[in-house]
Amino acid sequence: MCGIIGSTGKKASLIDLIEGLGRLEYRGYDSAGIAVISDLSKLERLRAVDGTASLALLDELSKGINGVYSAGIGHTRWATHGRVTTENAHPHFDCTGNIAIVHNGIVENFRELKEELANAGHVFTSQTDTEVIAHLLENYLKEGANLTSAVSLAMTQLRGAMAIVAIDVNDPQTIVACKRMAPLIVGSGNEVNFVASDVPAILGKADTFYQVGDNQVVVVSPEEISLYDLSGNQLELSKIDVEWDLDAAVRGGFHDFMSKEIFEQSNSVRDTLLGRMNPDGEIILDEMRLKIDDLQEINKIFIVGCGTSYHAGMVAKYAIEHWTRLPVELDISSEFRYRDPVVDSQTLVIGVSQSGETLDTMAAMHEASLLGAKTLVVSNVMGSSMARAADAVLYTRAGPEIGVAATKTHTSQIVALLLLALYLAQVRHNLQLSEVGEIFSELQLLPPKIDQILETNDKIASVAQSMVDVKRFYFIGRQIGYPVALEGALKLKEISYLPAEGYPAGELKHGPIAMIDADAVVFGIATRTRLWEKTISNIEEVKVRGAKVVMIVNSGDDASSSLGDLAFEVPQTHPLLAGVLDVIPLQLFAYHLSIALGNDVDRPRNLAKTVTVE
Ligand code: M6R
Repeated sequence: MCGIIGSTGKKASLIDLIEGLGRLEYRGYDSAGIAVISDLSKLERLRAVDGTASLALLDELSKGINGVYSAGIGHTRWATHGRVTTENAHPHFDCTGNIAIVHNGIVENFRELKEELANAGHVFTSQTDTEVIAHLLENYLKEGANLTSAVSLAMTQLRGAMAIVAIDVNDPQTIVACKRMAPLIVGSGNEVNFVASDVPAILGKADTFYQVGDNQVVVVSPEEISLYDLSGNQLELSKIDVEWDLDAAVRGGFHDFMSKEIFEQSNSVRDTLLGRMNPDGEIILDEMRLKIDDLQEINKIFIVGCGTSYHAGMVAKYAIEHWTRLPVELDISSEFRYRDPVVDSQTLVIGVSQSGETLDTMAAMHEASLLGAKTLVVSNVMGSSMARAADAVLYTRAGPEIGVAATKTHTSQIVALLLLALYLAQVRHNLQLSEVGEIFSELQLLPPKIDQILETNDKIASVAQSMVDVKRFYFIGRQIGYPVALEGALKLKEISYLPAEGYPAGELKHGPIAMIDADAVVFGIATRTRLWEKTISNIEEVKVRGAKVVMIVNSGDDASSSLGDLAFEVPQTHPLLAGVLDVIPLQLFAYHLSIALGNDVDRPRNLAKTVTVE
């Protein structure tokens, strides 16, 4: 849940470390810190604790130290163990002050280890789980190990999902890192080599990128990058194809990443569709490593995901069931693995995860695999842990998403899942190729329709600004409108911090309608999908109880618009694709309301972009 970086080489610089941390801030920003070895002998550490201003403070503090160093590491923290204090900020040292480490993840057995180490005389200066790692390394180094084998030995003692990066003044040009179910990549540039939590952190600084697998130790020096397993056997490095450019990772003229990413949605949807149909009119999913025979044998599908990714799965469920006639069960990842799901070799479990690193979803997929299911992940990050572990992977090609609130990856996830549904229907002969082709053509019409919605941005902004004093929001819809309502409410909650609930419109009368009064604003998702008439009746029910109603309607549908106090328009599409379009005005509304409330939309309080803890 934290961001980590390290660099070594003649051209290693504090600027790169701190800029890299800036690009990792989406992973947490409770505090930031760096440790560098200067003059090949001195370990210097700076730590700043000032919430979202931590990095600016760190940058200021760094002016007081030597900017030229041999090896350095950095960290941006999302606190799990130990409050947000300087003592708990990373990097952490051992007793000698020769070893520094940064860590992302959780050491599940840190209490036992800490007790043992403390009994053996180690002095702890923080309440973190991380610090035990530094002291374990100290022990192994004292026993004669070098830093590489010390890291391997320590990793065999540590339980949990994590990535660690260590430096040692006695080996002043080397960085040693290791990961287990947490993100970590390596990059090499011009006279400088890096490790980092993800590619954007070192984009433009490194030109070649390599994967690090679980329980692999990477040793990075100015001259070379070597990879080992925990027993010390050397492994081959495998490159990551990185098509993102630096421009894609920075704000590109927008006020913040979230608005940039909302406005990128026609491109991200277009990219997700690129090359997915061959000249014979068949859907092709080239990352599909499952055989057609396997897919023909499937008799049940589970979709697992968290938050926004879960909502994408929920939208897709309707299309998968309709087009393939396969039953689809939907599960929140953190519930799936503990509920003894009925899964066997004829089950396909689809994990939806933008980052491909969310621990809950990763663990659910792992459980599914153990139960013999076939697994497929829909992810935005090439070579992510989940992408590598699953039987098949479908990439969403949305480009890096930095804003904590997922927007463009959500719409791309829906599109990828719809492609998968069409592919399944094609290989299982549920749909004729001509029908697949017709729906694919509708998918290709989505990008210009998204642009039409984005043109209504100013109107949505002014409505949002007029609602800064509203204290409660509800979002209601039926069928696909229901997950759209849930996602609209989640977006608003996470960046405005206001109470916002999504409900299936038909369920209101069974309880929630009691909350409706003149202080409530209700968004009614009323585009022309199958249950439009019934949805309209449910919207009438809240209207007569005094709520202010904002309708999401198809362009030019005056009959629907006139039912609300206000209406946001979206173009009409195939009813099973409507989830891609109907959510966009809700993303824009949440964005503008939060900006009007003075919130930091890219870094909402208490949240992190990638949740690598259970
Ligand atoms: O990386 P993932 O898609 O697995 O992340 C899942 C959720 O943590 C994520 O969608 C979260 O709900 C976002 N903050 C939503 O905006």
